[in-house]
Amino acid sequence: MVALACSMLQLPAQKFQGLAMTPPMGWNSWNKFACNVSEQLIRETADAMVSSGMKDAGYEYVVIDDCWQVSRDSLGFIVADPKKFPSGVKALADYIHSKGLKFGIYSCAGAQTCGGRPAGRGHEYQDAISYAKWGVDYLKYDWCNTNKLNAEGSYTTMRDALHEAGRPIVFSLCEWGDNKPWLWAKEVGHLWRTTGDIFNCFDCVEDHGTWKSWGVMQIVDKQEGLRQYAGPGHWNDPDMLEIGNGMAVNQDRAHFSMWCMLAAPLISGNDLRSMSQQTRDVLSNKEVIAIDQDSLGVQGFRQMVKDSVETWLKPLRNGEWALCLLNRSKSVRNVELDWKTFSVIDKLSNRTLDTTGKEIYKLRDLWLKKNTGDTRKPLKAIIPGQDVQCLKIFK
Ligand code: GLA
Repeated sequence: MVALACSMLQLPAQKFQGLAMTPPMGWNSWNKFACNVSEQLIRETADAMVSSGMKDAGYEYVVIDDCWQVSRDSLGFIVADPKKFPSGVKALADYIHSKGLKFGIYSCAGAQTCGGRPAGRGHEYQDAISYAKWGVDYLKYDWCNTNKLNAEGSYTTMRDALHEAGRPIVFSLCEWGDNKPWLWAKEVGHLWRTTGDIFNCFDCVEDHGTWKSWGVMQIVDKQEGLRQYAGPGHWNDPDMLEIGNGMAVNQDRAHFSMWCMLAAPLISGNDLRSMSQQTRDVLSNKEVIAIDQDSLGVQGFRQMVKDSVETWLKPLRNGEWALCLLNRSKSVRNVELDWKTFSVIDKLSNRTLDTTGKEIYKLRDLWLKKNTGDTRKPLKAIIPGQDVQCLKIFK
């Protein structure tokens, strides 16, 4: 009996299995609101997620990023800002759950968060208990102020702490790709950032002096070589969405399409309470979301580049494929694709798309939401600058 009890206690810690089997979808406060968070904002966002149809489109996690925390109490437990969160975190989590949504929170592996708030280092098990008690479903864990800490070790400590606390929590590593988390984080978390922060710009780099943030195209380029590491329960995270934060609608559409082709987590980062119909239409296009959420869980790839137009492909379940033509230039491009000469083998997923033979595939334009013929005739696409055409290819 004693031996049995001991062996039960020694169950090895691990990440929670069976979570994030498709890339997580939700909203996070950082891109739009930075440190300006409050329970009112989070409640109103949860309301808007339901009333706007975002929840219906699959968005689920409502995540407070940095700056909800102010101090630790005399016993070392983390304390939420009493002015911004007067009802406390538990009540907020309950509210979000009452809407049929899930609740996420942020901390950091260093002693302080990137915003200078108290963070997890040395308090991992204690914080995990608070999160479990409050009803947290998702933890984003940052990498500021970590000095010489070992990344795999630090994130593993937090993973073990979450496991010990016993509440299934999606663990999102925000380590910016510095220590190549794709090589070790599959057993640690459910998603890991692959790059530094996104910047609300389609094609530019923002230099902050000691660090840089990256436009949408720059982030896409940084995903090269990483697709083999992603799959159900363990995703590459190219950072949160900037859709609705000021880019032109064509740029937003291209941004969203690429994140879906990359099987990226879809974490919206705009003000859901006041978004335009146009923004809502991009974020909640269910046919494009279905590409991201496809249960095969294979990240897409860039198959060809010609005259600033990239051809992206993503194998889907049931032998279907998604194809996006991404025009990175600022001017319109006329693209012709002759299916009679189009044959692609994806060694990673062991899937072939071959339209050269007798097999006829149908085409559906995922932004026009219309079937647009089949592979018997060459595809002729007119693609405006910094825009996409995305097709589903199916039998
Ligand atoms: C880092 C992260 C961001 C955000 C901020 C908060 O920069 O990469 O996503 O969480 O910290 O301070």
